[in-house]
Parts: sequence; structure tokens; C-alpha cells
Amino acid sequence: MIEIKDVTKDFPGEKRAIDSLNLTIPDGKIIGFLGPNGAGKSTMIKMLTGILPISSGQVTLNGLDIEKKPIAAKKLFGYVPDQPDMFLRLKGIEYLNFIGDIFDVPKQIREERIERLTKQFNIYEALGDYIQTYSHGMRQKIIVTGVLIHDPAIWILDEPLTGLDPKSSYMLKEMMRTHANEGNTVFFSSHGLEVVEQLCDEVAIINNGQLIFHGDMHELRDQYQSDQSLEEVFLELTNNE
Ligand SMILES: Nc1ncnc2c1ncn2[C@@H]1O[C@H](COP(=O)(O)OP(=O)(O)O)[C@@H](O)[C@H]1O
Ligand SMILES: [Mg+2]
Repeated sequence: MIEIKDVTKDFPGEKRAIDSLNLTIPDGKIIGFLGPNGAGKSTMIKMLTGILPISSGQVTLNGLDIEKKPIAAKKLFGYVPDQPDMFLRLKGIEYLNFIGDIFDVPKQIREERIERLTKQFNIYEALGDYIQTYSHGMRQKIIVTGVLIHDPAIWILDEPLTGLDPKSSYMLKEMMRTHANEGNTVFFSSHGLEVVEQLCDEVAIINNGQLIFHGDMHELRDQYQSDQSLEEVFLELTNNE
């Protein structure tokens, strides 16, 4: 479970990026974090994961405060960033072993998972190549594989399906479903509705740094006229300019 309590983020000289956001992300469900470009999704996610300092408020992961207990909290989650352009000078296999080392994944389990997952994602043959030479989708898949290797309870995924080929996208969605069904936390962001509509149990909608809706699809539709499509509802909610 992730608890976001009254979190605000100010960047110097910029308008408030996150404004007093409260959100509880429960276990056992897939929660979509939806909002147009620039709404504040990545900023909030970077605070959840301890990448950006929180200006005020608190984030806890399974009860552990991300700022007060960063190491213990970071052991609990896997994170797929929106820009998967990291560790470019490592080979794929070096990156995965690096993750395995950090999270103390036993050699045998690690090898089994690396082989199975990278074959499923169709990047097995590229493991000996530098991540620098990978496409956007391949970089995402190597990071997703890294997350799955250490098998964390909490998944935090920032626009994970953008740039994935249909098969990999399907696989990742299935994995998200399985992980949630096993009682774990799955929180992912998206600027598009389709994925959220087919995949999420609950949706949290953010606009201009403020949470404007949290509930299931049913509740979202209930708030609006029944003849409106979800897309129309979303556009109406986020249409402020
Ligand atoms: N490092 C930063 N410095 C200043 N402003 C930032 C920084 N990161 C994000 N912002 C601003 O915060 C707002 C939210 O951005 P972001 O969280 O990336 O939105 P989203 O992920 O929903 O597209 C934007 O106005 C963006 O310009
Ligand atoms: Mg973003």
C-alpha cells in the first residue's frame, strides 16, 4: 500500500507542480494515475520513489516513510521511469546482474528469471549488447525485467506501455493483473484513457497538480451523464484552460 498524505511540490520559480495531494493506493488492485501531459504525474511518482524531495507532506510505502527510511522503503518497490535511458554504458546482462546484486537475488533464481523474462520480451539475444544500442521499447523491457528479477511487492510504473510493441504490452498488462491479484500494489501512470479503461480497478485523475477524481470506472461514469463516453468525461474534467 502507498499512502500519499498532503503532498506538495514546488520547483523554484515555477507554478506549484503538486498541490496538497492525498491518495491511498491499496493492495490487490491496479490503480491508474491519469492526467494530461504536464499534469504532474511524473513529479508525483518521483516523490513516491525518493528521486525528488517532497516540499511538504509525507509518502509511506507499506508504512515506511520514503524520506525517513529510504533504504528500507526502496527495497519494497520496483520502478519503471518514463525515460528509460539509464545505464547506457552497461550491457543488458550487466544491468540485470547489477540489479540482482543490489537486491541480493540468489544466482540460480536470477539466472532462471533473466532467461525466462528476456525470452518472453524478445530481448534475450540482445543481452550482450550495450543498452546504448537498444531502442526505447527494448530499454523499457530491460528495466521491467530488472524490476521483475527482484520481485518487489510494489510496482510503480510511469507510462510503462508507451513505446512497447503489442505483444510486450499485452504481456506487461497480464503481469500487472497477476501481481495485483496476488495481493500486491500496482500503480501506473498514463496520459491515455484506453489502457486505463481496460486495465484499471481504480483511477486517480490529476490535473494541474491537483487530484480531481479517485474511484472506480463506475463511480467516474456515475458522476457524469450516461451518454458521455469516458473520453468525454476525461476531457471535461481536465479542460480548464
Ligand atoms: N525538474 C523540474 N524543474 C522545474 N519544473 C518541473 C521539473 N519537473 C517537472 N516540472 C514541471 O512540473 C509540471 C508537471 O510535470 P510532470 O510531472 O512531468 O507532468 P506529467 O508527467 O503529468 O506529464 C510541469 O509544469 C513541469 O514543467
Ligand atoms: Mg510524465
